[in-house]
Order: sequence, then structure tokens, then C-alpha cells
Amino acid sequence: MSEEVPLSAPEITEEDILAVTAAMRSGRLSIGPYQEAFEREVATLTDRLEGVACSSGTAGLHMLLLAMGVGPGDEVITTPFSFIASSNCILYVGAKPVFVDIESKSLNMDPSQIEAKITPKTKAILAVETFGNPEHMETYRRIADKYEIRLIEDCCEGLGGSWRGRPIGGFGHAGVFGFYPNKQITTGEGGMIVTDDERLASVCRSLRNQGRATDGGGGLKNWMRFERLGYNYRMSELQAALGLSQVRRLEQVVERRQAVARRYMERFLDNHDVILPTVSQETVMSWFVFVLRLSDQYTAEERDRIIEGMHRHEVGAAPYFPCIHLQPVYREMFGYKEGDFPIAERVCQRTIAVPFYTTLTAKDQDFAAATFDLMLSRENIRRT
Ligand SMILES: Cc1ncc(COP(=O)(O)O)c(C=O)c1O
Repeated sequence: MSEEVPLSAPEITEEDILAVTAAMRSGRLSIGPYQEAFEREVATLTDRLEGVACSSGTAGLHMLLLAMGVGPGDEVITTPFSFIASSNCILYVGAKPVFVDIESKSLNMDPSQIEAKITPKTKAILAVETFGNPEHMETYRRIADKYEIRLIEDCCEGLGGSWRGRPIGGFGHAGVFGFYPNKQITTGEGGMIVTDDERLASVCRSLRNQGRATDGGGGLKNWMRFERLGYNYRMSELQAALGLSQVRRLEQVVERRQAVARRYMERFLDNHDVILPTVSQETVMSWFVFVLRLSDQYTAEERDRIIEGMHRHEVGAAPYFPCIHLQPVYREMFGYKEGDFPIAERVCQRTIAVPFYTTLTAKDQDFAAATFDLMLSRENIRRT
């Protein structure tokens, strides 16, 4: 579906194209210097010792759970309000996602509800920085350390943000970034694990490459020796070259995304029908998406009609995110029903992601905002 003002759009510069072309000309298309340089760049940016590039954010999360020894019979505490991958990866390893409802400002897991969900089976907390918001990460880490379990930071949506000066990706025992085209930077498809734990990084490097033996430092000791069941979760040199080119202008990208977010904030400040994203004083957001929430008097059906109306006017919009526990696959597996996580449900029925990307012009943004206003006013007219 191509729209006049799309929901998201990657920024690909001439420099990016030259970087990918150079990688193609190098003759080395996988496992090479671009990957290493990209890993070093992201690790440095997030104050981490290790970066492990991989084929997607989902692959990174899957490998981390495996490398941490999470498996059948184990429980992992996580959020029901996220993109489904953050929970699916727990199912991949045969463990059970144990959902904790969210708090309604940051939209992250409510820290006060976590300890009650910890059992002897709990192996990890998989915390998502929802829409890139790092609020409560430090508290989750404190809880994880108290119970001697791992904190996995699903920071797929947060590259370039920080909390009290600490970069996103630096709170968990390990974190995972995602580089799908709607993210702050993209490699087309791709992801990266960041951690200070060298052993964990080494196991993940082996897992991404069919379980091949590594020399501990990440190099491959023996090409045809397979120490564990591994996968092909590698990132190609073309992707790494694009990622490297993109990440080098991250600061600029973040500034531009902040400017776009600010324009939306100003535009909707006096609109009492919408709830704007809440960002604490301590947080620097790099803005993955811009999500408006309709106030509680609106129903999910009204929200859906507003989204459809925006599509009719060639403006991107999406319900980010539907609750994970209410998806058919989770209902069938675990018997979840409406009412199980009331705050997440109240939020997810009323969210609308509106066009948001680094290169969004003020003119297109105005058009998107005006279209939203028009669709909202139609719902109000229907009511009266
Ligand atoms: C919170 C979260 N976790 C995991 C993922 C999965 O990343 P990928 O699409 O790269 O597999 C995403 C992707 O959008 C995400 O937003």
C-alpha cells in the first residue's frame, strides 16, 4: 500500500548507497569487516563491550534466551503491550511468557507488579522500551539482581535514546536492537545484541552461525566444528555497510526525529480528545513512532474508523500495538481473555500511530494531522 504520507519511510542517502556499493565491490559479502565495524560502533554508542550483529531483532532475542539457558518449563516476565516478537521469542525456546500489566504513562511494565509474578521458575525479565521509552529500566534491573535472574532489554525501538544520561541498551544484562526499515536506523532487516558479558556474546556469535566453535573472542576457531545447535542468523556485509553508514549520523537522525515529535506535540497540545506520549524529564527519546491515544470516551470501533478514514485519505495510520495476550495464538495456547490485563487493553484499543519518520516534512505532517482531526470530528458528529 503506497500512501501520500506513509506511516514510516527509511532515509537512504547517496552516502548509504555508496557504502553498500563499496561492500558489494569488496567481494566479501558475509562475515567481514563491515559487520565488525558496525558492531564496534553500536557497542561504543551504548557503552557496551560487545556487539553481535544478526539477521533481525527477533533473532537476537531468540539467541539471548538460548544463551542464557532459558528453556522448557521456565518462565519469563514480560509485557502484553508490545510488538508480538518480544513474546514470541519466549515461546521459541519452550518457556512461558508471564505477562505483567503496564502503567499508563510510559506504557512499560508496571514495576510494582513484577515481584508478585516471580516464582522459582522465573529465569528472566524481558522488558521492552515501548516506543523507545526507557522509563523503569533501572527498577527492572534492581528487581532482576535481587532475585538473581537476568534482565533482557528489548530495546529494538530505542537506539539513540537515554535515561539520566545512560544510553538505551545499557540497562539489561544484554539488550537487542532492531533495524527494520521503520526504525531510527535500518539495515533493511537486521538486529544487534549488546552486552558486557563476553561469554554471552561468544555463545551468541556461535548461535548465529550454525553453532560453530568460536575462540572466545568471537573469531571462528574451527569452521567445520559445531558445538551446539545453531542457526543462520547472520547479517550480510551489505546490511552491515548500510547500518554503519546510517549509525554514523545517528545524532542528526535523533535531532530530526525529535523535531518532528515536537511539532506533533505542539499541534495536539490543546486537543482534549487525545492523550500525548508522556516523556519524563530524565528521558531523551529517539522516537521510534509517534502514537496518539484517544481519550477513554472513544471505543475501539471509533478508533478503527479513524484509521480507515486516514487510509482513505492516503495517510498512514496503524493501531500500535494490539495486546499480545489477545492474539489468537496466545488465547489458544494459554486461554487468555479480555480483562486479564486491563490497562494494556484500555490503551491498545485507543492507540493510533500517525506518520512518523526522519524526513517527514512540515507540510506532510500538517496534512496528516489535519486528516486525523477531520476523522476525529466525524466520530464526534456521529455521536451527536
Ligand atoms: C519491541 C520489539 N521487539 C522485537 C522486534 C523484532 O524486531 P525484528 O522485526 O527486527 O525481528 C520489534 C520490531 O519491530 C520490536 O518493536
